[in-house]
Amino acid sequence: MIREQVAVFREARPEPPLWWVRFEVSVPPAAGRFMLADLAGPVRIPLFAAAIDPTGFAIMAPPGHPATHLLPGARVAMLGPLGKGFRIENQQRLLVITEAGRLPPLLPLLTSTATTTLVVEAATRARLPSLHRIPPTVELHTITHDGSAGHTGTLEQLLDADSPVRESLRWADCACFSCEPARYPALARSVRRARMHPSADFAQALIEVTMPCGAGACEVCRIQTRSGERRACSDGPVFDLLELDTDG
Ligand code: FES
Repeated sequence: MIREQVAVFREARPEPPLWWVRFEVSVPPAAGRFMLADLAGPVRIPLFAAAIDPTGFAIMAPPGHPATHLLPGARVAMLGPLGKGFRIENQQRLLVITEAGRLPPLLPLLTSTATTTLVVEAATRARLPSLHRIPPTVELHTITHDGSAGHTGTLEQLLDADSPVRESLRWADCACFSCEPARYPALARSVRRARMHPSADFAQALIEVTMPCGAGACEVCRIQTRSGERRACSDGPVFDLLELDTDG
């Protein structure tokens, strides 16, 4: 049964280029799970936590997101937590790999007790995110396509080359990805080349797509996997990355 909650909007403040928006709620979503919020639009909007605490959660939203226009104390109807999140329990060495603009839903992973390496990819130095929310204990590797910061190239190129990024993949007990879904098949093949026989759930990938109902009913969020068609909202939105390589 889907849980209905009333969240209380507490604050929205700019953290360029995004906004930090905090809600209080009885049961916040874990990393990779989501809330469906009724923000007075035509459909509910999925919210992924960028920070979680016992009294609520915060998201990082682009300017103009309806959550940034709420008044302090506003009550927001939400469904959730929904979906299947990241499964990192008992992992000692965690690798987190993300495109710069898709970092916020992975931020809660960086506060786990695991020894963590973070790889962030952007087109240029100017597109890299602010790093002030990354704990100092996290080892950071940046990749830029033009070489203006960190390693030069694309994520796929660095994973397939003799590089510290590929070494991180070999070192990790678990790798969590947040990228454009169309890249996942190629990334799955890179993981197979680096690890030979990766176990199920060694590599986990967040798929962010439109999810209007969150209950597996509307079929808007269908995706193809090696095991057939799945729904991002109820079968994911975190999937075994290797399952997303339908050609492999
Ligand atoms: S959002 Fe409706 S089936 Fe997934």
